Formats: sequence, C-alpha cells, structure tokens
Amino acid sequence: MAQCETSVQHSGTRHHLEVPKLTSAVAEHYNKMPERTRTERQALRTAALRKYNNLVKRALIEQCSGAKRIVDLGAGKGGDLFKWATLGASKLLLVDVASDSLQHADMRYQHNRACMGSMNIFLRCASMAEPFEEELRAQFDAVSCMFALHYAFCEETVRNVAHVLRPGGKFVGTIVHSGRLHTLSPLNELCSVEWIEGSADDEYYFTLCEAVERVRESLVHWHVLVRWCAKYGLRVHRVCNFTDLVTPKSHMSADELEVARLYVAFVFVRTEV
Ligand SMILES: C[S@@+](CC[C@H](N)C(=O)[O-])C[C@H]1O[C@@H](n2cnc3c(N)ncnc32)[C@H](O)[C@@H]1O
Repeated sequence: MAQCETSVQHSGTRHHLEVPKLTSAVAEHYNKMPERTRTERQALRTAALRKYNNLVKRALIEQCSGAKRIVDLGAGKGGDLFKWATLGASKLLLVDVASDSLQHADMRYQHNRACMGSMNIFLRCASMAEPFEEELRAQFDAVSCMFALHYAFCEETVRNVAHVLRPGGKFVGTIVHSGRLHTLSPLNELCSVEWIEGSADDEYYFTLCEAVERVRESLVHWHVLVRWCAKYGLRVHRVCNFTDLVTPKSHMSADELEVARLYVAFVFVRTEV
C-alpha cells in the first residue's frame, strides 16, 4: 500500500503520521463529504436527529468517566473531540480510513485548542481492522466506535479493541439493530436500505439523508459481536436502545424517530487477562 507521510503540530509537540492512500469506496465517500459550518448543520433536514445522536454519544462517553487515554475508531471529522475533552481525556487517538476527514478533525482540534484542556490528539489513517502495534497493548482506558462498526465488522476489529484496552477499560459504541433494519418503512423519507442479494455478510446499501449516500455496509449481529468480544475478554456491561438512553425530543419528525429507533448503544468491559 502506498504511504504518504504527514505531520501534525500539537501544543509544541510534533507527531509524525503514516497516512496510507486508501482508495476504498467508503474512504472516498467520506473524504468527499463537505465540511459544514455550525449554521449549515442547524439548517439541515436532519438537524434534530443529529442533535439527538450527539446526546446519545455524549451519554455513552459519560459511561467512560475517568478515562484519560482513548481510541476513537471511525472517528470521522472529530465530531466527538469536545465530548472527550469535556470528560477530561489527555490522549485521543483518532482512527479512520478517510484521510481528509482526519485532517478536518485535526483542524477542528487546532481551531478550538483553547477548549481542549490538556487533551492531545493523534491521527491514524487505517482501517480499524488493521492490527495495532504491540507497544499499544493495554495502553488505553476506553475505545469508542460510533456509527462505524458496520464498515469493518470482523473478528480482527474486536481483537484490536481488546488489544489496546487495559483491564477494566470500556468499549462503547453504537450499532444498527439488525432485525429493525429489515422492517424499516419504505416510506421513510430520510433513510433507505437496499439489500444486496446473495451477499455472504448480510450486506446492504445504506442511505441517510445529508449523511450517507448509498454506501455498502454489513449487518452487525449482536450475538456475533458478543461472541467475538467474549473470545477476547470483553464482557457486556450494558446494551440498550437509543431511546432508552436518551428520551427522544418532541420536535423530532416521525421519520427521524424511526431512524433513532433503529440503533442500539453498547458498553463492554475488558476483563483481567
Ligand atoms: C458515519 S461516520 C461516523 C463518524 C463519527 N464516529 C461520528 O459519530 O460522527 C463513519 C466513519 O467510519 C469511517 N470508516 C469507514 N470504514 C472504516 C474502517 N474500516 N476503519 C476505520 N474507519 C472507517 C468513515 O470514514 C467515517 O468517517
């Protein structure tokens, strides 16, 4: 794989990054996504749903209170930077296949340096299924994977999570409930699913208005996730519907509510090894 090197300046320290030139369709899709200003985000049709998802993510991140060293898998443009900084994180490793998204995350961090407390960020442009270095073993207090596990749902990803987490560390994230995706209303104007017939991994094309345009994803079967997690020393601590974690807002549309109800939030804990 071709490599290009870049470097990032954080609070006087220079961190060198190996950035692979990934050309996968998913990376290209997310690299092309426009960066929106706060005002533009507020004007979106899905503004209320986005706000709600952010509340859910904040609630999940709060489950990691006390965590200082974090890995964010599928971190995108760093939409959770503030949440982790508010929690008191000191080191945040952002992992994503989309190099442009990571650079946006870095810019967001630099522009808001004053609100980031003592948190430093590190960027890793790679798939979350690519193994972490041996020296990262048990080095992190929490790993999060928000709205991204369906892009790399495989045993290697789970093994990576377990590899970097210290005993007692938390793995938090969100997944689509596989059964509910099958019953998504075809009349939903915000979200649609096209099943790919004959695909071995229950794959589908997913579209979510103003966010995802017909991107190929895999169903994340909860029982499979639990089995892989158990194999690598991750025990279920909590699993619940989004709507049980955060009460939906009254101004959300019926279509937005249906999308919110598709999702499940989880917390696993790394057991002693
Ligand atoms: C829906 S976005 C979620 C971004 C962020 N976690 C959030 O909650 O706002 C999914 C992200 O996963 C990233 N992604 C897709 N496949 C990936 C993979 N195999 N490894 C790491 N990141 C991946 C995409 O580039 C994208 O940034």
